[in-house]
Amino acid sequence: MFDFDNIIERKSDKCRKWDHAFVCSRFGEIPADFIPLWIADMDFTSPPEVIEGFQRIVTHGTFGYTWCFDEFYDAVINFQRQRHHVSVEKSWITLTYGTVSTLHYTVQAFCQPGDYVMMNTPVYDPFAMAAQRQDVRVLANPLRVEDNRYQLDFDLIESQLKTYHPKLWFFCSPHNPSGRIWRAAEIRQVSELCKRYGVILVVDEVHAEHILDGEFVSCLTSGCAAPDNLIVLTSPNKAFNLGGLKTSYSMIPDAALRQRFRQQLEKNSITSPNIFGVWGIIFAYQQGLPWLDALNSYLRSNALYLTDAIRSHFPDWKMMNPESSYLAWIDVSADKRSATQLTQHFARQAGVVIEDGSHYVQDGENYLRINFGTQRYWLEQSIDRMLKHY
Ligand SMILES: Cc1ncc(COP(=O)(O)O)c(C=O)c1O
Repeated sequence: MFDFDNIIERKSDKCRKWDHAFVCSRFGEIPADFIPLWIADMDFTSPPEVIEGFQRIVTHGTFGYTWCFDEFYDAVINFQRQRHHVSVEKSWITLTYGTVSTLHYTVQAFCQPGDYVMMNTPVYDPFAMAAQRQDVRVLANPLRVEDNRYQLDFDLIESQLKTYHPKLWFFCSPHNPSGRIWRAAEIRQVSELCKRYGVILVVDEVHAEHILDGEFVSCLTSGCAAPDNLIVLTSPNKAFNLGGLKTSYSMIPDAALRQRFRQQLEKNSITSPNIFGVWGIIFAYQQGLPWLDALNSYLRSNALYLTDAIRSHFPDWKMMNPESSYLAWIDVSADKRSATQLTQHFARQAGVVIEDGSHYVQDGENYLRINFGTQRYWLEQSIDRMLKHY
């Protein structure tokens, strides 16, 4: 019904992932026939219902100011109930201009220069940027690897909380770059520590829609995280490939936290939505679920393919099980070359563009990250090329 094998020509649409000049500016001179497996952007068209919805707006031809009307709130409430079994109230929801931007506003709203924001490293690098750009310090808490799977180091976390008194804990759930899904008991423990040490728990659930192995537990699940100390940020951008629309939303159960957060948004005039952004959420959440389920099956089979290929052809590498998302996180510390040398070598010699883990704040230096949210053809070609040039 949905053909995820269909190759989409993306070099002409000025997307960062496929633009040769842009990619060369990041990775150095690379062959023109390169295959990009880097930035977390998928090579699939969005659900047909989203495209048709946008086509109706374009045909109508007026793009005036809009607002957050009831269909937006209903779409979010129903989606969260249906997919994640959580009851979200309309008053909790605030539309924002992208999750990354929202991490920045959250720091502005709740921190002063010199304060700390805790995060579990390695982690998506804008977590650190959001703090550092406001002169707020990063309190990095390294994740521990046990049986090739990340674990939170609660003893170290508690001692850091006691010493540094961070204002916020940026918690990535599921975790980017590893795809680790946090269990309810782990989330409960995180939340309890936040309450005990007066830290606001800010959870990024952007990767929650691509669950490949296991079950996602939202921090909004009843009995999980304390709702009076919780800010949940998400967007349909990863799930439905809508990142360029720069639209997201937050869910904040507590009225006082919400008020302070919204005051900061108002200071920046973040009030009315982009017309395609608000409708994109409605179309995707109301009608895109069969597509999303089919996509997840396709991603699952790509993950299996990649796991197998790495195990057979690169026996020194250790790939974590991607429980969610479409990003493979691979420990290459046993390789004779460093992760940075490998990525440079593959980009320049094989034309396969993957990222090394040094961008992920800290503790990712020995890792490669491969984006498998693409047609199987590109994955197979990439493995062939990497093998030839290894
Ligand atoms: C953990 C995480 N949060 C947020 C984003 C981006 O979200 P948005 O497009 O809503 O800014 C990404 C994109 O890769 C991500 O990995």
